[in-house]
Amino acid sequence: MEEFFCRTKIISGSGAVAALKNFGGKRLFLVLDPFFMKNGQARMVAQAAGCAETAYFDQIRPDPTVEQVAEGTARLKAFGPDLLVALGGGSTLDCAKAMAYFAKGSYPLVAIPTTSGSGSEVTDFAILTHDRVKHPLVDPRLRPDVAILDSELLRDLPKPLIAETGFDVLTHAVEAYGAKNAGAISDLYAREAFSSAYAALPASYAGRTEVRLKVHLAATMAGMAFTQAGLGLCHAMSHSLGGMFHVPHGRLNAILLPAVVSCNAHAVGRKYAELARAAGMGGSADAIALRNLKNGLIRLRRELNLPETLTQAGVDPRAVWRNVDAIVKAALADPCCKTNPLDADDFLVRRILEEVTGRV
Ligand SMILES: NC(=O)c1ccc[n+]([C@@H]2O[C@H](COP(=O)([O-])OP(=O)(O)OC[C@H]3O[C@@H](n4cnc5c(N)ncnc54)[C@H](O)[C@@H]3O)[C@@H](O)[C@H]2O)c1
Ligand SMILES: [Fe+2]
Repeated sequence: MEEFFCRTKIISGSGAVAALKNFGGKRLFLVLDPFFMKNGQARMVAQAAGCAETAYFDQIRPDPTVEQVAEGTARLKAFGPDLLVALGGGSTLDCAKAMAYFAKGSYPLVAIPTTSGSGSEVTDFAILTHDRVKHPLVDPRLRPDVAILDSELLRDLPKPLIAETGFDVLTHAVEAYGAKNAGAISDLYAREAFSSAYAALPASYAGRTEVRLKVHLAATMAGMAFTQAGLGLCHAMSHSLGGMFHVPHGRLNAILLPAVVSCNAHAVGRKYAELARAAGMGGSADAIALRNLKNGLIRLRRELNLPETLTQAGVDPRAVWRNVDAIVKAALADPCCKTNPLDADDFLVRRILEEVTGRV
């Protein structure tokens, strides 16, 4: 049985931020990445909303902490808005979603992603860090009411961010497609997100801004797929390693994904082969399509100048092995593990760690 539910209204296109005026709000609380305070786009968004009063909460740093959320929640409650807008990458969106969740106010949450990656604008997840461990908060009430996908906000995306967040999209699509709760409808979104992002990422990385909306839509579609189907071991390990070593989330996924695909292929090889064919990396035999999928991911990772190992990402492998028990424990406790196609255990996580630290 598949139950598919998407309650977020999605408005997309160049200049879509203008749709904010339709909310008719008077008091706007804007949660934003400090980057947009500096470049003036925060003001542009506030003007588009046309509210008489605006409060700005711009303290968000990558991988928001529980403490930041607590501070933001107190500010949000004290201000009492009638419109809540989040402008930024997954970190900002997650922080705003968690703030709205804890504040329990009765105003709409509009998510405006400025990276094409997390899919947070349509998901039931908010990833919060506490004591160097990333904890996914999962609840349908976290899902934003509206997502605005405006390609104008993506014009100046730096190349490393395009690469990292783009690999996050691919990882969401691959993991959702193979996840235990996948169904026909989530598969549709995952397949389209994967093939579309896989095809458009090199051009976006090369500076062709006209393909950025395509990747942006793919990020949202991948979010719609995984919030329904679940994720897998790549995200569980990425959360565990990210909390400890602060390597950007998409960068960790790029390092982990080919290794995780190899392991999970024992359970969902046929589905991975379908995904490869949908993205034009086929082969008539499943084994060939599967090999092409893994090689295609490795080739794209190289083309986007992403690291292949944790060492290349600046993490000392000795630190990984010194902390291996904590890393394995956090990965296995992560909710994303539950929907991994293979039942994950200590051995599997260590086996993947060996590959990504260059031990094998
Ligand atoms: N809630 C979910 O469903 C979900 C899913 C996947 C990942 N996540 C979480 O999202 C976070 C990662 O989000 P992210 O990859 O979008 O990055 P991010 O929000 O952490 O931002 C990374 C950097 O990009 C900069 N930035 C953002 N938009 C920019 C733009 N348009 N131009 C220039 N710079 C810009 C920010 O200032 C920041 O320095 C992680 O904490 C991850 O765990 C959440
Ligand atoms: Fe992710």
